[in-house]
Amino acid sequence: MKVILLGAPGAGKGSQATKIAEHYNIPHISTGDAFRSNIARGTEIGVYAKSFMDKGQLVPDDVVVKIVAERLSHKDCENGFLLDGFPRSIPQAEALEKLTEVDAVVDIEVDFSVITARLTGRRTCPCGESYHISWLNSDTCPKCGQKLFIRDDDKEETIKQRLDVYQKTTEPLVAFYEERGVVKKIDGNRPIEEVFASIKEALG
Ligand code: AP5
Repeated sequence: MKVILLGAPGAGKGSQATKIAEHYNIPHISTGDAFRSNIARGTEIGVYAKSFMDKGQLVPDDVVVKIVAERLSHKDCENGFLLDGFPRSIPQAEALEKLTEVDAVVDIEVDFSVITARLTGRRTCPCGESYHISWLNSDTCPKCGQKLFIRDDDKEETIKQRLDVYQKTTEPLVAFYEERGVVKKIDGNRPIEEVFASIKEALG
């Protein structure tokens, strides 16, 4: 099963990706996580990516495509994968088409007012999990115990910029994949478990 998760920043892609990858036993490939891991390790790619991420801009296509192409060449992607946060532009989608075909594109739709409340209250764990402050009663990860942090790009002005970039550059991908007949639209304004149930139903 080769699946792409589409949706605006904060639509819940990461939250659903963990569940989908576990349920269908496929690798979860998040370009955002890959960049954050590079930033934490202080690599050249990390330093370069951070200069775009902190401003709410996209990392240039050639850098992202190279990372994804390398990851998709691993053996564990042979029978399927879940792409979270890639592709994010038409050139990225075209590059992906040259590498492989996808079976489904899950488009999680959420109102922008809901998204802003989600992202300003998000707390992230180095293990990859994210939570909302309204559900937490401590500053450590309920799953692994590590200290939670606020992502640098979760400031209100950066969130606005990320949403603008999404509308201009990423949203056109919905039409791109609709032409290929693979889009499954999901109402992401509902609780996480309800959204996940709809995704499972859509994917079969
Ligand atoms: P990335 O890490 O991919 O971030 P994003 O797409 O902006 O998405 P988010 O991680 O912010 O949100 P999400 O949809 O995963 O929501 P989540 O589940 O966490 O990318 C970061 C940056 O890296 C980009 O801005 C760009 O610079 C760069 N980058 C990455 N990929 C790139 C690419 N392909 N090309 C170029 N540049 C790239 O949920 C958010 C919050 O809401 C959490 O607190 C969560 O607990 C809560 N929540 C989730 N679902 C629900 C629900 N149903 N109900 C209530 N609360 C919920």
